Amino acid sequence: MKKFSIVIAGGGSTFTPGIVMMMLDNIDRFPIRKLKLYDNDGDRQAILGGALEILLKEQAPDIEFSYTTDPETAFTDVDFCMAHIRVGKYAMREQDEKIPLNYGVVGQETCGPGGIAYGMRSIGGMMEIIDHMEKYSPKCWMLNYSNPASIVAEACRVMRPKAKVLNICDMPVGTLRRMSQIINKNPGDLEVRYFGLNHFGWWTSVKDKEGHEYLPEIREYVAENGYLTKVEVDTQHMDQSWQETHKKAKDLIAVNPRYLPNTYLKYYLFPDYEVKHSNCTYSRANEVMDGREKTVFTAAKKIVEKGTAENSGFTIDSHASFIVDLARAIAFNTHERMLMIVENNGAIANFDDDAMVEVPCIVGSDGPEPLAQGKIPAFEKALMHQQVTVEKLVVEAYITGSYQTLWQALTLSKTIPSAEVAKNILDELILANKGFWPELS
Ligand code: NAD
Ligand code: G6P
Ligand code: MN
Repeated sequence: MKKFSIVIAGGGSTFTPGIVMMMLDNIDRFPIRKLKLYDNDGDRQAILGGALEILLKEQAPDIEFSYTTDPETAFTDVDFCMAHIRVGKYAMREQDEKIPLNYGVVGQETCGPGGIAYGMRSIGGMMEIIDHMEKYSPKCWMLNYSNPASIVAEACRVMRPKAKVLNICDMPVGTLRRMSQIINKNPGDLEVRYFGLNHFGWWTSVKDKEGHEYLPEIREYVAENGYLTKVEVDTQHMDQSWQETHKKAKDLIAVNPRYLPNTYLKYYLFPDYEVKHSNCTYSRANEVMDGREKTVFTAAKKIVEKGTAENSGFTIDSHASFIVDLARAIAFNTHERMLMIVENNGAIANFDDDAMVEVPCIVGSDGPEPLAQGKIPAFEKALMHQQVTVEKLVVEAYITGSYQTLWQALTLSKTIPSAEVAKNILDELILANKGFWPELS
């Protein structure tokens, strides 16, 4: 079997060790000859790089491993770039969450004003790594899950329309795992229909391979319990705040009982509830810095100290296995069915052709082919149209440097009550993002 060369962009990410462990776990299905980490923060990356060097020497000595901050070294001779960068890192995520919360507005990584602020930072970083990839390995595919994926995907569509970038999200995968536990099935045996935007969509069908429809059964369960399951087998989305999110799906389904909701819809349908239950001095960014970030970096430092990765604290990120499935689909033309963020072009019959939507696709060597999801109802369509317009305005504001356009984007967000509040938040975000955003005028 062919062996692949991979670069992980955002090598210093808290998710890097989990993904490397997952790739090692899947090495028979997806053989690797070379693995590189690339990050623009050399010190942060070196902690994980040093530990992974030891781990790979012990567990997969045939893989040529290195880490670098030099784009040419990183992107030369690579088949796949797995990208998970966070421009501005956790310090800026904290600002994205706390600034809106101080105005009584949802403070979230990818939704509402926080997501818009993060989008304005991510676009530049993403274009930079896409350009490195195209310069040094023009045949390479980028599997990108850097957030906010919807804004990043729209920026790719407009700014780098020919680039081989696939934008993906693990939330539907994670929630499908929960559904499979609810009905006592294997997630791999389930096939779904789904429509929406990233972090903004609905399942319209969950069937097994024989064609049995589980939607009514799951819906009944979710109406009682949300996506909280009796047995927990996940490696991600387990903190208490995530449990609250899984539970909140119960209220989402009460509003719209026809389909199964993506949990992120809570920020748009229950923004006041979310604000009331947030802590504006200790947000999710603080939880992650004190939780996942500390755990991962402490484990890495221990490996380096001891000189061995035996009994290391690194765990396999089982969620991330869909990234290997996606890489395999491209590499081996498997035609696997997966949810992807793609240009609509009729996949949702009564929605804009040029909207970046999340729908099931068949993925092969030429990339994703979206599956037609038919017409969608008025309620979902109107919500999606409002949100996709916010995302388009953000990309337009980034390109044109227009303050007015970005103000409109915030004003249009369902999470913000008025143009005045939008302006106050925007003005504070501009100050906080100096050096990260283009100058607006
Ligand atoms: P993190 O801050 O731990 O890691 C991100 C890394 O990116 C940092 O080491 C940082 O130095 C680096 N970076 C920033 N800008 C860069 C640039 N221009 N070039 C190269 N490297 C750069 O963040 P994390 O919590 O591990 O998350 C990483 C990313 O993955 C985030 O964007 C997060 O939102 C995303 N994510 C997405 C999904 C999904 O469903 N799509 C799931 C999980 C995480
Ligand atoms: C889910 C989403 C990601 C998001 C992550 C945040 O996996 O799909 O897009 O980045 O949650 O998780 P965190 O633990 O960092 O709050
Ligand atoms: Mn996501």
